[in-house]
Amino acid sequence: MSNKTDETFVNQLLSQMTLEEKLGQLNQVNPGDRFDSSLLREGKAGSLINASGALTGQGFSDSGSAELSNHFQQLALESRLKIPLLFGRDVIHGFRTVFPIPLAQAAAFNPHLARQAASVAAREATASGIKWTFAPMLDIARDPRWGRVAEGNGEDPFLGAQMAGAVVQGFQGDDLSAPDALVACAKHYVGYGAAEGGRDYENGEISEPTLRDIYLPPFRAAVQAGAGTLMSAFIDLNGIPATANRRLLTDILRGEWGFDGFVVSDWESVKELIQHGVAEDEAHAARLALQAGLDMDMVSGVYLNTLGESLQRGKISIEEIDEAVRRILRIKHRAGLFAQPFTDPLRAPRDLLTPEARSLARDFARQSMVLLKNDRDLLPLKGFRRILLAGPFVHARGELFGTWTPDGRAEDVTPLDEALRQTAPNSVELWFAETSDLALHLAHHADAVVLLLGEHPARSGENCNISDLSLPPGQAEFVQAMAALGKPLALVVFAGRPLAITSQVQVVDAALYAWHPGIEGGAALGEILFGIASPSGRLPITFPRATGQIPIYYNRKNSGRPINPQGEFRTRYLDLPPSPLFPFGFGLTYTRFEYSNLTLSSDTLRGALAISAEVTNIGACAGTEVVQLYVRDLIGSLTRPIRELKGFQRITLQPGESRRVSFTLREEDLTFTRADGAFGVEPGNFHVWIAPDSQSGLPGKFRL
Ligand code: NOJ
Repeated sequence: MSNKTDETFVNQLLSQMTLEEKLGQLNQVNPGDRFDSSLLREGKAGSLINASGALTGQGFSDSGSAELSNHFQQLALESRLKIPLLFGRDVIHGFRTVFPIPLAQAAAFNPHLARQAASVAAREATASGIKWTFAPMLDIARDPRWGRVAEGNGEDPFLGAQMAGAVVQGFQGDDLSAPDALVACAKHYVGYGAAEGGRDYENGEISEPTLRDIYLPPFRAAVQAGAGTLMSAFIDLNGIPATANRRLLTDILRGEWGFDGFVVSDWESVKELIQHGVAEDEAHAARLALQAGLDMDMVSGVYLNTLGESLQRGKISIEEIDEAVRRILRIKHRAGLFAQPFTDPLRAPRDLLTPEARSLARDFARQSMVLLKNDRDLLPLKGFRRILLAGPFVHARGELFGTWTPDGRAEDVTPLDEALRQTAPNSVELWFAETSDLALHLAHHADAVVLLLGEHPARSGENCNISDLSLPPGQAEFVQAMAALGKPLALVVFAGRPLAITSQVQVVDAALYAWHPGIEGGAALGEILFGIASPSGRLPITFPRATGQIPIYYNRKNSGRPINPQGEFRTRYLDLPPSPLFPFGFGLTYTRFEYSNLTLSSDTLRGALAISAEVTNIGACAGTEVVQLYVRDLIGSLTRPIRELKGFQRITLQPGESRRVSFTLREEDLTFTRADGAFGVEPGNFHVWIAPDSQSGLPGKFRL
């Protein structure tokens, strides 16, 4: 939050600025091909975006470097007031060291690791001249058709908020002015995941209670963790584009939450207010956004080009401009840019892709993979002499990265086949086949088969929406044909979203969801397949049986005729069970855990309540369980979700080992947006579960 030094400095600087220089600070430019660098010398740009635009990460990348940033910074420092530039870039799940995609990170249910990964990304990015990342992406997503589901933490506000706080702290550290601290940008504020039909950029409608209780909590957590900036969403939410939404950008964000950083638009989204049909021209668009509380215009140029005239015509006030400039200068000052505008070019060779970073990436990939099925304990693969690994991912390198990795390099990745060879026991012969023809031929002579299928990163990410959640063309047929051979069969899926793999899961013996696991994904997968590590990820989002089940999420509400496939006049599908393929929170391990003896410290919650249960490893090997705490508020002035996640803990137990796992539930954990519009609790009866996933667990009850 603001401190006095920042404010004195900022106000002093502001008092010396011309109108043009002020508008310059509100202007973020893209140094593309026809870049006019005189903008920098004249103080007409506050920030540069070091990205080649919305397609970065899908093969159209350029690279951030200290030399490049220093070159531009030098020009900015030749301007009259020498105000340094803030260099922004999409550092989404790592920089040169690519970590698993954010959705996979959420699957690890390990915010501590996410924080460490973000701090590695911060060190690498800042060594390359970047001081501001457009992350974390905190959009709650209940629709896996939407390509950007890969970039967020899934469907749950509690898990989303935990990840938000951790990642912001990881990027920013304790002191934003430290050379290796990266300014965070919580995006896309807000409701972007509710785009209709899973179509990116589309409009959405979210009721006030759902907005408050589901979509906002991760952003609030990011603000509480000190996020320096937020990005407005492209979405038209309930009829008001987020970029021009004063209630969101000012009343809630600053009024209720006390945010004192700045808000940047998304790419040209200020100008796009014209397309939305709320602004008649560029000047109008710029005014609407500024007056809503949107401080920096990402690359559309309309702030720089029109706000001066709007001021002259008395349509906006100088105080409104000053406030936006003040917020931007405040973050620049807090980020130490005035004291240290340049990046030491000697840092990059030292700070990029260190062995520690790689090992963290491997650990994260390992913890994020989710075992969905494991009949007759096929995995880990033991006792097979010849194992065939087949499918389009067998030689994958950069394909393991996932979306948004402009700074990852395929040559840094050990190809998947090689990584598997390195992790397999010597006694095992591994065969590889990329095409299905070859694979089906070789399979006859193999003792077990592992299929490496899923979606290419280019089928995931911004505007990579799909209308059908099936595996990409040909893959389902491949699975069926292989299954028909009757060999022990495991399926590994690489993907940026939940895919509807119902029929595949039925015919294989084992299924492992590997997501897009990042630079060390191959080794992590090998360790899991061959039993060096045990899978411990859990689903951060519900897996539907079929595309038509969307939206399907665990924290839904009962209807007056709750789901019941047998009941003729109950919520159901005629052609599908109502349940998901796999519920939120679900994931198997190589061992089994038993839950027993749920205990509550009291039958009434007064301030706080301790809830605990015993978890025992009843299998034959060590394993990690993600123990989850859920509650249900039975009666409310507004209908309440049938379950809400309120806590989780990762615990590792040796065979036979037991541990009592304890959670503290506080009164504030039970707050929600009530019928009277206030945020608070309502006394009454609650159910509680300590559970391995959102559909099972040991039940208990208490009163508030
Ligand atoms: C558009 C995307 O929506 C946003 O997430 C990204 O940060 C910007 N482009 C900048 O590349």
